[in-house]
Amino acid sequence: MNIRSVVQAAQPVGTLNSFAADVIAGLTAQPKTLPPKYFYDLAGSALFERITELPEYYPTRCEIAILHKNAPAIASMFPPGSALIEFGSGSSRKARILLDAAATVAAYVPVDISGDFLQQDLAQFKRDLPHLVVHPLVADFTKPFAVPPRLAALPRVGFFPGSTIGNFEPAEAGAFLRHSGDMLGAGALFLVGVDLVKDEATLCRAYNDAEGVTAKFNLNLLARINRELGGDFDLAAFAHRAFFNAAQSRIEMHLVSTQPQKVRVNGIGIDFGRGETIHTENSYKYTIESLQALARGAGWTAAEVFSDGLFAVHALRASGIRNQGAPDP
Ligand code: AVJ
Repeated sequence: MNIRSVVQAAQPVGTLNSFAADVIAGLTAQPKTLPPKYFYDLAGSALFERITELPEYYPTRCEIAILHKNAPAIASMFPPGSALIEFGSGSSRKARILLDAAATVAAYVPVDISGDFLQQDLAQFKRDLPHLVVHPLVADFTKPFAVPPRLAALPRVGFFPGSTIGNFEPAEAGAFLRHSGDMLGAGALFLVGVDLVKDEATLCRAYNDAEGVTAKFNLNLLARINRELGGDFDLAAFAHRAFFNAAQSRIEMHLVSTQPQKVRVNGIGIDFGRGETIHTENSYKYTIESLQALARGAGWTAAEVFSDGLFAVHALRASGIRNQGAPDP
């Protein structure tokens, strides 16, 4: 059995229904919203890959350079024989940098909502790192999920790269950090990649690229609704808009209705006024200190931070057992 068939066999039933329910709830709300996790169907994941290669979109390049530069230091923090659990593993390229540096890692568990995307690269992992147990999980990592029983005894290192944490409201991000701490266990290490607050021009350029790939990525959400839910969105009647909301320290992405229109989704009619928007994404930006404060409030200790001034990879340690031993020097 190849990896693809394993992953597809694990596809949770009800995925389509929750997509439909979330879309109807979001489009009938005031203001209208859609959850960004649905950007990543096969087409959306390919568009996101193109975003990561755009000259304006610095976060991926920065994070990869930070991981390369600091891989030995990061690997030295891993407990021997650990399981690396990656939350939302787009292309697995970043985990590969850590796995190449951390020879003692026993298992790699990429967790992703999209089974289609998960299987990419993993066959190569198995060839290049034959000692490694690779166990992909198809799951919505924003909700609790179980570590495979045969890996349950291994010490755990969490890896949440890509500033995906920026998609959560700060309170949700705190709750996510707390739940992931419960799941990873006392003394666990958690590596979290987070985009930094910076000048507005740099931030805005990253979400308004000259080539229009981010606009396509945003509009693909409507195309996906058309494809999967029988929607009749006219993509030419919506425009991409992204701006920095400084008061809330977040990039907001919207789809703006350029005219009054009625759209049907799943037999339900949805009215849009001219200029009305669907709020499709928040991408929160943190300072090193604001992220550390959030993590502390969720039961984590800031062990180390690796940064180039634009992006930060935080190494967090779960409070707990560790604090019952000797106090920190
Ligand atoms: C994958 C959520 C980190 O917010 O920068 C990129 C998604 N949206 N361009 C981000 C995204 C538009 C990305 N995250």
